[in-house]
Amino acid sequence: MSSVSALKEKIKISKGAMYNADSRFAGIEPFDTKLWLASPTMHGDEQKWVKDAFDKNWITTAGENINEVEKQIAEYIGVDQAIGLSCGTSALHLAIRLAGEKLYGIPKVSHGSLEGHKVFCSDMTFDATVNPITYEGGEPVFIDTEADTWNMSPDALEKAFEIYPEVRLIVVAHLYGTPGKIDAIRRIADKHDALIVEDAAESLGATYKGKQTGTFGDYSVISFNGNNLSLSEGEKVA
Ligand SMILES: Cc1ncc(COP(=O)(O)O)c(C=O)c1O
Repeated sequence: MSSVSALKEKIKISKGAMYNADSRFAGIEPFDTKLWLASPTMHGDEQKWVKDAFDKNWITTAGENINEVEKQIAEYIGVDQAIGLSCGTSALHLAIRLAGEKLYGIPKVSHGSLEGHKVFCSDMTFDATVNPITYEGGEPVFIDTEADTWNMSPDALEKAFEIYPEVRLIVVAHLYGTPGKIDAIRRIADKHDALIVEDAAESLGATYKGKQTGTFGDYSVISFNGNNLSLSEGEKVA
């Protein structure tokens, strides 16, 4: 069997197992080769806690349940603090804004914190990794992706610092639950006195050399969007 046929067979078996295990897929024939995004599976206490928020009138960005989720996720990932926002996109904007202020100072009202500055970023990712750089007036410089992890290439990053040694911020994503070579990227960042915003939106639960993704950045972001994992909408800056 060719390697492509072997892969197709593997996908077919794993998809079949998933469809058999979940009654919502009864009667639906899986594609032979397509890998689906994960869909949310609401079979726990989700509705109970949504009702609890309604009953207690905590329909906002605060409340005891949000405090508890922040505490639990910080413990799970292994960071001191986590802050819940409405989504990963807004968390990335906050993280990038804070990194810009730390590096370049607090800008005047209605100005961005990265005005006049280049920022290195992943070139293959969801656009929420990159958009906040431009919201803050910065100029994204796209760093090539490597073949083995499909994430930012440390070699390309090192080259980019040769061309633009003044850069002080790197925004790097871990795609599809596969961590990039974040220790090498951290070493390069430290060498050049740069901060890292780690976009771990797609990689909650994935570890790199035994350590959870979401712990490597100066600011790190995870997402609870159903297409990133099967929890509920909402997000954290860790
Ligand atoms: C790599 C990456 N970053 C950021 C986001 C944004 O997260 P959210 O959908 O929670 O806004 C996503 C979402 O799909 C993503 O895949």
